[in-house]
Amino acid sequence: MPELLVNQIAAGEVVDRPAAALKELLENSLDAGSRSLSVELVEGGVRRMRVVDDGAGIERDDLPLAVARFATSKITTLDDLERAATLGFRGEALASIGAVARLSIVSRRAETKHAYRIACEAGVVSPVEPAALAAGTTVEVEDLYFNTPARRKFLKSEATEFARCDEAFTRIALSRPGVAFALSHNGRRLAHMPPEGARERAARLVGDDFASSAVEVDSQGARARLAGLAAAPGFTRANRDAQYLFVNGRFVRDKVAAHAIREAYADVLHHDRHPAFVLFLEIDPALVDVNVHPAKSEVRFRDSSAVHQFVFHSLSRALASAKPGTDPGFLSGGTAVPANGKPGSVPGFGQASFAMAQPAAAYAAMFETAVADERRVDAMPQASQSPPLGYALAQLHGVYVLAQNAAGLVIVDMHAAHERIMYEGLKEALDATTLPSQPLLVPIPLTATAEEIEQAAAGRAELETLGFDVAAAGPRELLIRAVPMLMADLDAAGLLRSVLREMREFGATRVLVERRNELLSTMACHAAVRANRALTVPEMNALLRQMEHTEFAGSCNHGRPTWVQFPMADLDRLFMRGR
Ligand SMILES: Nc1ncnc2c1ncn2[C@@H]1O[C@H](COP(=O)(O)OP(=O)(O)O)[C@@H](O)[C@H]1O
Ligand SMILES: [Mg+2]
Repeated sequence: MPELLVNQIAAGEVVDRPAAALKELLENSLDAGSRSLSVELVEGGVRRMRVVDDGAGIERDDLPLAVARFATSKITTLDDLERAATLGFRGEALASIGAVARLSIVSRRAETKHAYRIACEAGVVSPVEPAALAAGTTVEVEDLYFNTPARRKFLKSEATEFARCDEAFTRIALSRPGVAFALSHNGRRLAHMPPEGARERAARLVGDDFASSAVEVDSQGARARLAGLAAAPGFTRANRDAQYLFVNGRFVRDKVAAHAIREAYADVLHHDRHPAFVLFLEIDPALVDVNVHPAKSEVRFRDSSAVHQFVFHSLSRALASAKPGTDPGFLSGGTAVPANGKPGSVPGFGQASFAMAQPAAAYAAMFETAVADERRVDAMPQASQSPPLGYALAQLHGVYVLAQNAAGLVIVDMHAAHERIMYEGLKEALDATTLPSQPLLVPIPLTATAEEIEQAAAGRAELETLGFDVAAAGPRELLIRAVPMLMADLDAAGLLRSVLREMREFGATRVLVERRNELLSTMACHAAVRANRALTVPEMNALLRQMEHTEFAGSCNHGRPTWVQFPMADLDRLFMRGR
């Protein structure tokens, strides 16, 4: 097969559309240590795409290698591949692009006097010649697929191809907040980002509301670390658009991690809502294979069950301490406070409370005299010593509890709060024991694949702790002899199938715990105080104290917030009270 044809076929995989070519160019610039990257696109990147970087540059004699297939400066042995820390390593991107477009590279290494240029048009490489460039590398790709009409036909409208390029650009820019990025399309400047922090970069690219309310995740394991931002339960979305997972700096779609993330949110998310997140999983490169697909958008973990558990627990822990911000925008002007406190801590209670201690104490004194005797059951102490959620003042229309804390006014949805408290209590009680099992009078036969039968035998002990008693009853049949007690009414066969599938895919299963939790959640919802029940002040205070000691207390089981803080400053603004 002629080399050009090989490269054209490879191009179909590596650079199947402009966005894929752009991703490869940006990754090359990052691998070269660039601190600043600028992207110019014309007509969705099809007509022209130019990436200008300030990276290390390419040596004159290496330019022909850069456009040669399988020539990479990044790894030399298979061993290196195991530890590849660079984004590229296959050495086929530039060769592929050069086979299906007019490619030109101008590059200059810091120590050399000149820049040099090489061009490659439909696979024909031109000789290296001197050129003008201050530093770094400029790669230009023109008329993508001009010589492969079949591929060109697959291109969508200019707007669509541009949108894909924009998404590729966004992923890369999110992954390196410390690097400056610029983007223009058809001569219009669309983005210009200085080096900044992860939260600022996320605010720019994912949204201010996300960045200001998101929970900070930072969890260090023995050989992995998960860090980044995850949407607070109250700030979820109707679609999956804003979900960014980077494994060792590379954007990937990975079903193990995606599943772990979804499960971590299972307790705080309504079924039709999706979390937004920008998460970075750093993992020992020896434990992950990125060379699964030419575009490297998938990875394979050596121990996917360990990764699943690590991601799940890291994120759950972060979400458990999530607190609703001062959300009511009409009052606070969107000054939602980052929710990164420990369980029971209140946003703005740390630094801000210092400035507020004085006025809050004054208000406390005012209330002391104003409240009825009954309400002094918990004589209101100094604001500085009051618990995070403060003390109850009154009940509003049988629905909300009003309380005063150091920061100002707290409003609690009493049903939602009680529901969460009951639910967490039930879970805790049950987590401590194995799931009780209920033997079936008539065992349920289940047609199974050989794989399922093998899984059931291998995972027998684990299945028993979950309350299942399962035995093989033939080469194609399993017999369910006992089921988890709480779930006796459910579709046992379907449940067992999901359990086996998860045990196989993720090495562990949370299907049962999830189902059990769904049931507990329903129970908690029915058992929780109903609206319109009058609560006494001591009852209300007891509710506040319980909330402070409950995980996930910031939102109810359906992801609605349970309480909201109105800081004094916001109330003052509302009444135009100067300080
Ligand atoms: N922007 C750049 N700055 C410096 N070197 C570059 C740049 N782009 C490409 N190169 C060089 O060209 C080589 C080939 O690039 P590529 O075809 O993308 O393969 P890979 O990235 O897998 O090594 C790289 O190994 C690198 O040495
Ligand atoms: Mg590359």
